[in-house]
Amino acid sequence: MAEPNKVATLTLDGKTHELPVHKGSIGPDVVDITKLYGETGAFTYDPGFTSTAACQSSITYIDGDEGILLYRGYPIEHLAEQGDFIETCYLLYYGELPTAQQRKAFEKNITYHTMVHEQMAQFFRGFRRDAHPMAVMVATVGAMAAFYHDSIDINDARQREIASHRMIAKMPTIAAMAYKYSIGQPFVYPRNDLGYAANFLRMCFAVPCEDYVVNPVFARAMDRIFTLHADHEQNASTSTVRLAGSSGANPFACIAAGIACLWGPAHGGANEAALNMLKEIGKKENIPAFIDKVKDKSSNVRLMGFGHRVYKNYDPRAIIMQKTAYEVFDALGVDDDPLLEVARELERIALSDEYFISRKLYPNVDFYSGIILRALGFPTSMFTVLFAVARTIGWISQWKEMIAEPNQKIGRPRQLYVGSERRDYVSLSRRG
Ligand code: CMC
Repeated sequence: MAEPNKVATLTLDGKTHELPVHKGSIGPDVVDITKLYGETGAFTYDPGFTSTAACQSSITYIDGDEGILLYRGYPIEHLAEQGDFIETCYLLYYGELPTAQQRKAFEKNITYHTMVHEQMAQFFRGFRRDAHPMAVMVATVGAMAAFYHDSIDINDARQREIASHRMIAKMPTIAAMAYKYSIGQPFVYPRNDLGYAANFLRMCFAVPCEDYVVNPVFARAMDRIFTLHADHEQNASTSTVRLAGSSGANPFACIAAGIACLWGPAHGGANEAALNMLKEIGKKENIPAFIDKVKDKSSNVRLMGFGHRVYKNYDPRAIIMQKTAYEVFDALGVDDDPLLEVARELERIALSDEYFISRKLYPNVDFYSGIILRALGFPTSMFTVLFAVARTIGWISQWKEMIAEPNQKIGRPRQLYVGSERRDYVSLSRRG
């Protein structure tokens, strides 16, 4: 970390303490409180970590007020529109965009590791058919440590890289297997001549009796969805991966922990909720009544796919999602999809309504992604699984960055204790 450029002063119990302030390359400064407890005996209190930087990172930067998202300095819209997911994976993991030669080698490496150990198929068969695919993902990704135990020594840089490549390569295969299992169809093996997104679509939608010819517009849409979800700084699942990894847990276990966290409706489940909301509204004429319900605080109804903890402006990913939705419907030959119509009109009305303007509520990435995924043929139960496939590269890159940090320590938050003070044990017969 660079030398502090200024200090903050804290006065506690009449004593003054100087706290170093560090400057990032862009974004807010951070007040360094690492010595605070030792010097003052006090902790800081910040539930939900709304004002706490838990690490330093050079991977992803978000400016929520301006609606900016950068991966290693590159704007998300450049990567999604001019690059692709494989390049984005390389960039997030290694820090730079690949040269043509590096890209070719990396893509081959990923493509040639998409098959999973054949015994994993037996492992899948232990689940009930109606199991949620996210439950299956948490278990099977965690189980990878049992199948690939030659790459779980986190102190060996080469093993870390092999485990990372394995997860990027095999995650789509495992996700497609979870889907196929849930609908009672046989697993479809990956094909090395297809790109990352096209291969995934084929593993989901081909059947032994009929191949699935991948529409390039659909493959591009899938690739963009992966790119837009690849990383998002220190969100709940990424912080979970870092915390799990801080104890020295193996990378497969850490990513399984991240998937478990992502499963929550406040994190990965919002696109499903946004799609359900559009279905519930049904047609444009019902929008004003729905908006009234959203504004009525006693209704507890929110406009799903709107608002964000960090973005107080347009989520830059939402703009690309909207464009992609039109491309997909064009390719399908559908020019009047009712849900797309409702979404567009809802967005128009909300963006001109004082309630949303004053609260800085704009469409987020989930507003259009559900519509696209449904058009591609995915059931809602798979939406969060697709998010997990995309976010794997972000989790792994953040985990790798953390392990390489020389001062890396086990994560151990403190607490404000509000329970009973010390009291003596009372035997059962004497309890009131
Ligand atoms: N619809 C209606 N009102 C809203 C909404 C919404 N979607 N979001 C926030 N508000 C209102 C809220 O009622 C409050 O109003 P008031 O000040 O009158 O009490 C004000 O805006 C601030 O709300 P908040 O809950 O303090 O804001 P937050 O920053 O904690 O919430 C959020 C962020 C994403 C949880 C919230 O905007 C929300 O619930 N959105 C809908 C769910 C959604 O789309 N989530 C996906 C997030 S993007 C996925 C990702 O990046 O992982």
